[in-house]
Amino acid sequence: MNGEGSYVWWKHGVMCEIYPRSYYDSNGDGSGDLQGITAKLDYIADLGIDGIWLGPVNASPMVDTGYDVADYRTINPLFGSMADFDELLQKAHGHGIHIIMDMVANHTSDQHSWFRESRSSRDNPKRDWYIWHDGKRGRPPSNWKAAVGGGVWQWDKTTKQYYLHSFFKEQPDLNWRNPAVRQEIYDTMRFWLDKGVDGFRCDVLNYFLKDDQWRDNPFSLAAGPFNGFQKHLYTRNQPGMYDILREMRAVLDGYKDRMMVGEVFVAEEGPAMAAAYMGEEGELAHLSFEFSLVFSKWGAHKFSDALDDWYALIPPKGWPCNVLSNHDQPRAVTRYAAGEDTVKRAKVLAALLLTLRGTPFLYYGEEIAMPNSKITRKDVMDTVGKMYWPIVKGRDGERSPMQWNGGPNAGFSEARPWLPLNDDYSETNVEAQLQEPTSVLNFYRRLTALRREKQSLQMGSFEKSPSHKNIMSYRRVYQNERLYVMLNFSANRLSHTCTPAGRWSVLLGTQRSAGTAIGKENFEVYPYEVLVLEKDK
Ligand code: NOJ
Repeated sequence: MNGEGSYVWWKHGVMCEIYPRSYYDSNGDGSGDLQGITAKLDYIADLGIDGIWLGPVNASPMVDTGYDVADYRTINPLFGSMADFDELLQKAHGHGIHIIMDMVANHTSDQHSWFRESRSSRDNPKRDWYIWHDGKRGRPPSNWKAAVGGGVWQWDKTTKQYYLHSFFKEQPDLNWRNPAVRQEIYDTMRFWLDKGVDGFRCDVLNYFLKDDQWRDNPFSLAAGPFNGFQKHLYTRNQPGMYDILREMRAVLDGYKDRMMVGEVFVAEEGPAMAAAYMGEEGELAHLSFEFSLVFSKWGAHKFSDALDDWYALIPPKGWPCNVLSNHDQPRAVTRYAAGEDTVKRAKVLAALLLTLRGTPFLYYGEEIAMPNSKITRKDVMDTVGKMYWPIVKGRDGERSPMQWNGGPNAGFSEARPWLPLNDDYSETNVEAQLQEPTSVLNFYRRLTALRREKQSLQMGSFEKSPSHKNIMSYRRVYQNERLYVMLNFSANRLSHTCTPAGRWSVLLGTQRSAGTAIGKENFEVYPYEVLVLEKDK
């Protein structure tokens, strides 16, 4: 794995996903917006964030909260105007913060003018921009299942053919085999890059191509309900995908210092597939999300094993990125720390994410250990929840408004927020945690500051000690800087041998103050203790 050398913002910096509708409402309509994010740039910079992944803000009917784009070159009025976007970008850059946009290019909204044209007649010039097909003996062309349940084929009575949608029926898939579609998306990328956007988070990057012979996917019990109990042999990762990636990469490489991070949906394919999207020579996506840490169970050995697998697969010129939470999965503290030592576990997670090798992606609110909010039937906004309640309640819980203070609506908005707040906001909020020296927020701030200061954390080698049931420990080494990280995942006091020889001093810890000397001797580790040590020079 490379990484040594000079600083590269998307490799060595810290990223944060911001879900625009839930960050900060500047105009009192109950929804977060672009001006709201601009208003919080000082806070974001102070948190030590080098880049924002901005969730979708393009025009959209919001059937999939913006992942259904109706116009790639305009801003959804719910979030503001293009002038607001330009201002955010300019001011973010002024703070040294990069911005990557969500590029949702596998599908559009059914309200996009392209699709309206496409569905209007079989000989419309845009017909082939989407995937249309006759049925097979009165049935859909294949057995393919959508990621949100049900089949991928939707019968359209106007032109009496089926169209394909990998997600909701309101999200028809673009036909990436059509060169005009590719050109249009690449031009759209240039439109934003010309404005100065620093790159893209590419939504479901491995879905773009589908088998052109429409072969049925085999049944797979192991694939589970979200994959429709199918092995997605013919609906993901199709031959030709890397050519598309090369073309996208060429667009980005036409500009200085831009990047793309792919969301690669893997099930039975495992992390090898996510790694493959970076390309052997690092010539495809700059980064690729891999969700083993999100799906891992709590425990030093569990995380450790997941990381071993992931790191071993990173191609020689690739670079890992690490993520614990996002807008599609229950928040990390809800998965790992609900009602149980929340603050202590949140600190272990923070230290893990920010001292691992690879680009850390925080999810807004993670820095204050915000849990999922409780959603009742009447609150549901996510179409997944609307369709499958109460079996599946949707993703609203992890998208609840940011908790800025203990005042009305948690300081998020003057109006009733679009999603319910957490009940815990009077204690769990930014304002309170800024004042509390040992808060999770201040711990994050110390960690990001340390990461900025220590090149070994940004670009050093990663040498993990053998797996241990409760303690995860590793060294990060860069030139003559040697750090040792130790994380106790358990609520027990443990005896531990600090493996590296020599004398070490605490740089940052949960229970020991900076500067404390630690030798090679056995020492007692406190419950959930986090220690970052530096070898004395
Ligand atoms: C992945 C996104 O993260 C998710 O929120 C969305 O529903 C699907 N892609 C479809 O765009």
